[in-house]
Amino acid sequence: MTISIFHLLSLFILLLSQSFDISNSQSSPEFCNQHDKKVLLRIKNKLGNPSSLSSWDPNTDCVMWKDIQCNNEQGHLTSISFIEARDIKGPIPPFLDQLPYLTGLYFSDVPNLSGPIPSYIGRMTNLTSFFISGTNVTGPIPRFLSRLTKLNQLALSFSKFTGPIPSFLGRLKGLTFLCLASNELTGQIPTTFGQLTNLNFLRLSSNKITGPIPVFLAKLKNLNTIDFEYNSLTGPIPQYFGHMRNLTTLSLSNNLITGPIPKSFGRNNLVMIKLAHNKLTGDASFLFDEVNTAIVDVHIDNNQFKFDFSNVDLGRSLVGFNISHNMIYGSLPKRFGTLSVDSVDVRYNKLCGPIPNGRRFKRVDPVVFSHNKCLCGGPLPGCK
Ligand SMILES: *[C@@H]1O[C@H](CO)[C@@H](O)[C@H](O)[C@H]1NC(C)=O
Ligand SMILES: *[C@@H]1O[C@H](CO)[C@@H](O)[C@H](O)[C@H]1NC(C)=O
Ligand SMILES: *[C@@H]1O[C@H](CO)[C@@H](O)[C@H](O)[C@H]1NC(C)=O
Ligand SMILES: *[C@@H]1O[C@H](CO)[C@@H](O)[C@H](O)[C@H]1NC(C)=O
Ligand SMILES: *[C@@H]1O[C@H](CO)[C@@H](O)[C@H](O)[C@H]1NC(C)=O
Repeated sequence: MTISIFHLLSLFILLLSQSFDISNSQSSPEFCNQHDKKVLLRIKNKLGNPSSLSSWDPNTDCVMWKDIQCNNEQGHLTSISFIEARDIKGPIPPFLDQLPYLTGLYFSDVPNLSGPIPSYIGRMTNLTSFFISGTNVTGPIPRFLSRLTKLNQLALSFSKFTGPIPSFLGRLKGLTFLCLASNELTGQIPTTFGQLTNLNFLRLSSNKITGPIPVFLAKLKNLNTIDFEYNSLTGPIPQYFGHMRNLTTLSLSNNLITGPIPKSFGRNNLVMIKLAHNKLTGDASFLFDEVNTAIVDVHIDNNQFKFDFSNVDLGRSLVGFNISHNMIYGSLPKRFGTLSVDSVDVRYNKLCGPIPNGRRFKRVDPVVFSHNKCLCGGPLPGCK
């Protein structure tokens, strides 16, 4: 959108300059701020002129360069994205702090980017979005990031960050998006996270986080996504999760969580719930029920749930579920027969009786029904 406005404006200026008969391309005016352009060219040079930055051509207006955005006053650079730049090697380049109007800085899928986050990043206090994702960047999450108080979005993910999740991140109260997934972060979720009341999205998955799911997260009423899967969280699922009105996606799979699912989950706006591979017990039938009007996908496989499935009034929005490896008994509810065949898995339970609308499932791999007490029909042998 902005780019196309720039294109139009630059065309206009080009026409203007031609009408004044300025033919020398050297002196034709550019949109891009010339100081900022020089900084980018120094960065490119420092990175060894990788081919992923081939659009950074000194003979063209940097407004046209790939994944670069400028503002419309003096053509100052506002955003730089290094995306899928596999040929960029070594540490995060210097000079980025010489771009005072920069608000967005993205490194995404730059696997050979390495070393710690340089301390000059702590001076880039105008940043609102900072992404380091899919890199080989290492080290503890540095304290100077707490100076970036204008941040709305912070991703330090799919990289090699180590050490505890620092409590100073709780000072970044403007954050709406925080992703620290897939690192080697340890320790508990800091209590200061209770201050991040603007958060919509919190993802801490695939780390080594321990301790219980903290009560102070109840203050984050704007959260729509919580993803803590693949950690070592212990203790029960807090009751208040079921009262978070904006929560649509909850993933706690692959932890060490115990106890029953709180009954508060019976009537909320969850669309997707993933609780697989924990040590949960009791009744989970109300998750599937019609009263959970928005529910689409339920994953509770590999737990110790024990309940009668026969009379569950499967929600009409439900598209799939995995309940395998539990102790669920009774029969498959009638509406099961209307679900999509490639998104259900009930193996390793104690279910019995005919598969509803079994003909629909005739071509399905019978393995998804296997290891039950006495399911029959459909892809399994006929009922007696
Ligand atoms: C960058 O990393 C990839 C692994 O993602 C590796 O295969 C490749 O050789 C590296 N490229 C360079 C130029 O070092
Ligand atoms: C932040 O941006 C303003 C312009 O909006 C600029 O004057 C100031 O120098 C910038 N600060 C830093 C630390 O870059
Ligand atoms: C990441 O860094 C480690 C050393 O810290 C190195 O062994 C590994 O090959 C690097 N990976 C990539 C994709 O560059
Ligand atoms: C939930 O989302 C709605 C709309 O997206 C928003 O207006 C509201 O402030 C959010 N927070 C709570 C606590 O409902
Ligand atoms: C359901 O869960 C089991 C156990 O966790 C897993 O092996 C299986 O692949 C899952 N089924 C589907 C359809 O994803």
